[in-house]
Amino acid sequence: MLNPRPLFSVAIVLCLLATAGSTPGWAQRNNNPPQQAGDHSEGAAWGPRLPKPVTDRDYYDNGRPDPLKVELGRLLFFDKLLSGNRNTSCATCHHSLTDTGDGLSLPVGEGGRGLGMSRDTGSGEDAIHARVPRNAPPVFNLGAREFYRMFYDGRLEVDPSQPSGFRNPAGDDFPVGLDNVLAAQAMFPVTSHEEMAGQGDENEISQAAAAGDLPLLWERLAIRLRANETYVDLFIQAFPDINIAGDITYVHAANAIGAFEASAWRADRSPFDRFLRGDRQAMSVKARRGMNLFYGRAGCAECHSGPFQTDQDFHAVCMPQIGPGKGDGVNGHEDFGREQATGDEADRFKFRTPTLRNVALTGPWGHVGAFNDLRDMVMHQLDTVASMQRYDRYQAVLPYREDLAEIDFEVLNDPDLVADIVEANELDPRRLSQKEIEQLMDFIYALTDPNSMDIRSDTPMAVPSGLPMAD
Ligand code: HEC
Ligand code: HEC
Repeated sequence: MLNPRPLFSVAIVLCLLATAGSTPGWAQRNNNPPQQAGDHSEGAAWGPRLPKPVTDRDYYDNGRPDPLKVELGRLLFFDKLLSGNRNTSCATCHHSLTDTGDGLSLPVGEGGRGLGMSRDTGSGEDAIHARVPRNAPPVFNLGAREFYRMFYDGRLEVDPSQPSGFRNPAGDDFPVGLDNVLAAQAMFPVTSHEEMAGQGDENEISQAAAAGDLPLLWERLAIRLRANETYVDLFIQAFPDINIAGDITYVHAANAIGAFEASAWRADRSPFDRFLRGDRQAMSVKARRGMNLFYGRAGCAECHSGPFQTDQDFHAVCMPQIGPGKGDGVNGHEDFGREQATGDEADRFKFRTPTLRNVALTGPWGHVGAFNDLRDMVMHQLDTVASMQRYDRYQAVLPYREDLAEIDFEVLNDPDLVADIVEANELDPRRLSQKEIEQLMDFIYALTDPNSMDIRSDTPMAVPSGLPMAD
């Protein structure tokens, strides 16, 4: 089993005390006078500024993507045909049985076996080489236009000045014709050795990935799709510009996948949504008090702002770093977050503020899934540095393998590296009473759309490749 060593030496604790309270920024900004309450005030003259209710217009295609595209996208999303070794689908890490995530702190990519918590790291030559370094995020509501950036570091984002319309990791290799940034995102998981492509020269996809030839990689995936009669029929039905098999490109596949994600996993019928739309009974009194704290004194809405509780911006909140990291730092096991995308040291350890819609369903939480208890995650946000000090690494959900486990806690075991994460922290502590914390939790639960609580039926019964879906 894992063998966690005590995380904090006296030296770090001293360093933490020295930095706590000295962080600039959002706390002061939050001292602005409260905004005039809108329709939703709790009867007080002053109340929190609440977001506008979400409407169809907030989503691509006014919330009604073409059903033929959606159905095709559903099949592609669950089909392992899109992975080099035909053993991993998008759903492996974003499954409808695990609320569009995988239930793990860090995903086990291609080479692993099983789904969700029971997934293992594979065996023999096919076993995984490394864990995927970041948590598989949920896909709820990403068909809303305001999510103009993807990934924890925002390395893919809408940018009309680029030939493809997106600032993206593939640069000028990135094709034109993608419907939106969610569809554009679906171009990338298939190119990652760990996630879907496979290693070295194992297959024609991983070979193209190893050669850094992404246009060739996407073309080879299209060749697979063109060879499947069922897919050819479905593509012809869904896309007016496809008349014969040879017209199919992976861009079409990505557009279909994006349409499926946007349509299946829209989630805007939570008690909070109903409340914002005028149903004042939709939330309990306790949850309403929690809402006032969230949008008021607890300061959450400084970053978790707007209809989806995110400013779409990047912040450093002292998150414990676990797993193999993104190749940053002297030992290569750090993850500098937004700096990965901008190269700017000022962005170190900043990650995109996640939406809190359906957050009660989507643990483990944080960019490496460090927290497996929602209350602990919220307590972290209330006092990040103290939470870091008491971090219990047993809660990390990491399918065990000795050599992987050896590096999982390398950053946390190094007082200097931990001190760097603490120093970057921009979230000052907030003191709430036990009662207020319960109210805040009740509000967070009220962000859960009851329609998302059972999304099993989003899983197709079978996929056109005939490949198995259960493992
Ligand atoms: C092996 C696990 C794995 C597989 C397979 C996988 N993903 Fe992901 N997905 C992740 C991880 C991890 C991230 C976050 C990476 C980051 O931020 O650097 C992610 C991010 C995303 C995001 C961005 C979410 C956001 O809020 O920024 C979307 C959308 C998504 N994946 C969809 C897909 C689609 C579509 C496929 C199939 C083509 C797929 N994923 C395959 C693990 C996986
Ligand atoms: C300074 C900006 C900021 C403030 C203020 C803030 N958060 Fe966050 N929150 C973030 C960022 C950034 C993350 C992701 C951090 C990471 O993964 O490294 C996050 C993550 C979370 C998560 C985990 C979500 C997930 O899907 O993994 C929860 C829950 C959360 N915050 C709740 C709160 C609550 C409740 C408050 C108020 C007490 C709050 N936050 C205040 C920026 C902020």
